[in-house]
Order: sequence, then structure tokens, then C-alpha cells
Amino acid sequence: MCGIVGFTGSRQAAPILLEGLKKLEYRGYDSAGIAVMEDGAICVQKVSGRIANLCEKTRDGEAVPGMTGIGHTRWATHGAPTEENAHPHLSNDGRFAVVHNGIIENYLTLREELIADGYHFDSETDTEVIVHLIEMYYRGNMCEALIKATNRLRGSYALGVICTEEPEKIYAVREASPLIIGVGIDENFFASDVTALVNHTRNVIYLEDGEFAELAGDSVRIFDCLGKTVEKKVSRIMWDVQAAEKGGYEHFMLKEIMEQPGAVRAAIAPRIRDGAVVFDELHMTKEDLQKIRKIVITACGSAYYAGCSGKYVLERLCRIPVEVELASELRYNDPLIDDQTLLIVISQSGETADTIAAMRECKARGARTLAIVNVVGSTVANLADETAYTWAGPEIAVATTKGYTTQVALLYLLSVHFASLLGYIRADDPKTVKALQELPRRIQQAIDLNPSIPDLAKKYHASKALFFIGRNTDYAVALEGALKMKEISYLHSEAYAAGELKHGTIALIEEHQPVIALCCNPAIMEKTLSNIVEVKSRGAEVLALTFRNNQKILSVADDLLFIPDLDPLFSPLVEIVPLQLLAYYVAKENGCDIDKPKNLAKSVTVE
Ligand code: G6P
Repeated sequence: MCGIVGFTGSRQAAPILLEGLKKLEYRGYDSAGIAVMEDGAICVQKVSGRIANLCEKTRDGEAVPGMTGIGHTRWATHGAPTEENAHPHLSNDGRFAVVHNGIIENYLTLREELIADGYHFDSETDTEVIVHLIEMYYRGNMCEALIKATNRLRGSYALGVICTEEPEKIYAVREASPLIIGVGIDENFFASDVTALVNHTRNVIYLEDGEFAELAGDSVRIFDCLGKTVEKKVSRIMWDVQAAEKGGYEHFMLKEIMEQPGAVRAAIAPRIRDGAVVFDELHMTKEDLQKIRKIVITACGSAYYAGCSGKYVLERLCRIPVEVELASELRYNDPLIDDQTLLIVISQSGETADTIAAMRECKARGARTLAIVNVVGSTVANLADETAYTWAGPEIAVATTKGYTTQVALLYLLSVHFASLLGYIRADDPKTVKALQELPRRIQQAIDLNPSIPDLAKKYHASKALFFIGRNTDYAVALEGALKMKEISYLHSEAYAAGELKHGTIALIEEHQPVIALCCNPAIMEKTLSNIVEVKSRGAEVLALTFRNNQKILSVADDLLFIPDLDPLFSPLVEIVPLQLLAYYVAKENGCDIDKPKNLAKSVTVE
């Protein structure tokens, strides 16, 4: 996730900016840069790769004089992690520099408009439109230019801006991305989070969405989107640095679970324009799609389970057969794949060895390949004919959460996109588009609806084993729910298709055996209900996950987890969230190393 910092005062800015950027490294990044005001001009230093390279290039900042500046760590979204795409970005006249954390959803339209007006672009980023807009609107007043420029932006942004006309000031703007002002003595700061500030000051101002800050060494002015001054409270930070890196959460995993409404929004919102699902990055036409006889999805771990979930929606909306294959199996299966196969490859890291090998194997047999990947510029992204990024931001906890949900979100979008190309559904079908747009809010509700999860974890954490059951889409979610549980809590957890219980697993059900029953698919709810009754009559304790007003399930289950009412076609994406939280709290009860579970790696780059 990108990070931004800014400093103005009477000390040399560059070393302070570099130190701040190092504190933001944990957020994940692939390039970095600073811009410092030097004798009335802006000096920009950027590198691809690590901050250590930037330190080397600038002799730890000593080689860059000047006492006002901004800095950035970039997690690539729009454009590869190159030096050109690294921030800060400069305006064509060299008077403005901008750093940005977030995504500008309408950047393509703005870019075309700015190019038509004669502006030239040096990068592929969405960010660069911002600095040209500021140049376009600047008439001697920065506040006015910032208000006008940001009025044109759709999306999320925390911005840092400097301008040669006001060489001792730094400006910051916040809209749906984190940004904090640090208030020092004769010096002031901004940063994406407090970690970058605490070494200098513990006095901070939390900006709200839509607020702007104008900082000089001796003044802090906050104003709203109309330019009216806003009085803000200065708060005192009591956190230690390590806690601050986790945004106050005890573990990265919990932080990443809580980030899911924002991450899924970042995946979905830019792909819905004027009420219709659009995929600017994909080039498959209706004719291309009509040639496809089957879709094969391949991946490992949770990404494979995301594929299992996506299969239902793809088949239902597109009427194309979908097979989901473990990459480690597919690669050695002599797969029946040809040029009439579309291979969808799913990978958070884009570097999983088995996934890459399976992809190469299928490509060699003529498959057309489409990758759903989080890490920009990764091997899977580079190998694929087409790539759709999940834009989840970096994931630090080994067990994926927001990586998985954003993959599922992309599969939903893709299903609607393909179905619209094939003429089965309109890309602007109001019910479908609304259901997709509501998903981030529904995830938040699923978090809010389940305050009792820590207590449930206390009840179930010492169990010998946990069985997850469900049918159809619920089964796909059960697989991921059981994986989360075993990965981080080391509790033996298995998922079963509920209809298969009778063919074996029911022999394991005994008095007080916990069974987690997923009942979020109205089409086969009655059937799952029968399975619940079967296991209960053999002594099982049933923890059911269902819609909040589902009276039938409420009356038979021992304990309950809820999801809000939502379109059942897309409910699996929301359904997993209470199960992630349950796994988290069970692991916590068991005293496990949640972010780094034993024997597991975040990215498995060997076979
Ligand atoms: C590892 C991780 C899992 C992940 C899997 C696939 O096993 O621990 O969380 O689902 O690899 O990783 P990928 O980066 O390809 O999605």
C-alpha cells in the first residue's frame, strides 16, 4: 500500500523524509521517491526497488538540501514498478510535485482530456493526472487550485503537494485514504500513518475525508472542501511504534480483515462506470469468447478456493463449463487444454511456483490466459495474455484474507462482464450492479453483526476437530473457512459437502462435536437444514452461519454467526468474513503466532 510523508521546518527535509518512508516500509512497496524544495525549484529523486537505493542515491538525504519536501513509497497499481512510475510526479511547468496514496477511478477520462489540452504524461500512473490538474487550475492560490483539482477526481486519495510559489509550505488532502498531520515545534509533518511521525512528535490531527491541510513551519491550517477554515482537535498518540504499524490492531491479519470493505471497494468501484461493469484492461471480444468451449481456473491455496467460489457465478451467468484445478495437479495431468480453453490463473503474489508452471503448461497447449493477480509486474501478470489486478494492497499476514475476497470480487465482475459480452445480461443491469456496489458495505455489516465471535472462540478453541459443512456455494466458502482455521489455529478443520456427510463423515460425529454449518444459499437451504438435524441428533453442537433473520436455522442451531441480507449470488464473498474472524480469535485463544503460522510461507516460490 502506498505511503506518503511530508515535512516543513528549519531542518534538512530529505533525511527526515527518508526516515519516515522507512517507517512505512511495512505497508509494502516496490519504488520510492522524494521531492524537496531547493533554491526555488523542486528537486526530485526516485528509485525503483528499495528505500535503501534511494538512501544510497542521496547519501541518506544529505545530498539533497532544502527544508520542505514530500516523499512516497509506491505499491504499484497503475503501471509497473519503474522509476518513471514512482512518485513524486511533477507538473509540466515544474512548479508542482504530488505524492498520492489511493486510486483515481476516472483517471483515463481525465488523462485524455489533459492530453487534448496539451499536457504530456511521463508515467502510466493514475496519479499523474492530479499534478496536471493542479497546474491547470492554479491562479496564484493553492487552496483554490487544490479544491478545483480534487473536485474533478473520483476515487480515493491522500495527497501531498508542494509548489515553487510557496516554497515553505506543504499541502495535504484526504479523501478515503488515511492521512495524519503531525504538529511539532516550529516544524510540521503529514504521513499516511503515525509510525512515520512518532519519532518527531506525538501531537497529531486526524484529517476527515474532504479536508485539506496547509502546513508551514510555524502554522497549521485545515480547511474544508469549500475553503472554509475548520478548527481541529490536536490528539496525543499513546501507541508504541509497533502497534502503530498495525494501525492499532494486535495483528496484521486482523487489520487486513478489517481492511476488506476498502479493498473490495478498490477492486470493484473503478470497474463500474456510469452504472455499468467495464473492464478497460481486458481485450477479449464477444467473438473471442464465443470460441471458448471451457474455462479452466487454476491456483493454489486460498486462491484455488476463490476459484471454487467463482465457478458457480461464472457458469450461472455465462453458461460456459468451468473446471477448477489445483495448479500442482494440473501441471502434471497432461491436461485436456487447447486454443478453445480460457485459463483463468488466480494468485495474490503472482509468484507461486506451481501456479506459474501450470500456466506455462497450458499456454504451451494453446490456452488463452487471463490472470487475476494482486502484485503488479509479478511473473503471473507478465506471463498472462490479459491481467486484471485485484488492487487489494499488500498483504502481510501469511494467511490471506483481503487477497482472497478481492479475487472473488474480480471473478464476480468478470462473470458479469463475460455474460454481458455474450448477451446473457446487460453490463448495466441495475440489480446486479447495485448488488456489486453494495458488497463493501455488506462486508462491514458482516463484521458489525458478529460481536460475539471472541466468545464463540472461547467455547470452541479447545475442540479436537472442527467440521465445516455446506452445499454448493456454501461448500466453496466452507473450504476456505476450514483452511483459515487450520492455517492459523492448528486446529484440525475439514470442509465437507453437506450432502456427502452420510457417505462417511457422519461416522465421526459424536457427542459435543462442533459442526460449523453454512446456510447462506436459499436455493438449497432446506437440504442443509436436514443435514444440521442429522448431525444434531448424533450429539453435534452446531454453529450455523446464515442470514440474520433466517428463523428456521435460528431455531435449530446452538450458536449463530450472521451475514446481512444480500443478493445470494454474491453472498459467498461476505460469508467468509465471520469465518476469518472466528479463525483469528480461535488462534488467539490458542496462543498461536497468527501472522506467521508455523511451517507456512506467504509466497511459495518453490515446488
Ligand atoms: C501460500 C499462502 C496462501 C495462498 C497460497 C497461494 O500457501 O500461504 O495464503 O493462498 O500460497 O498464493 P498466491 O500468492 O498464488 O495467491
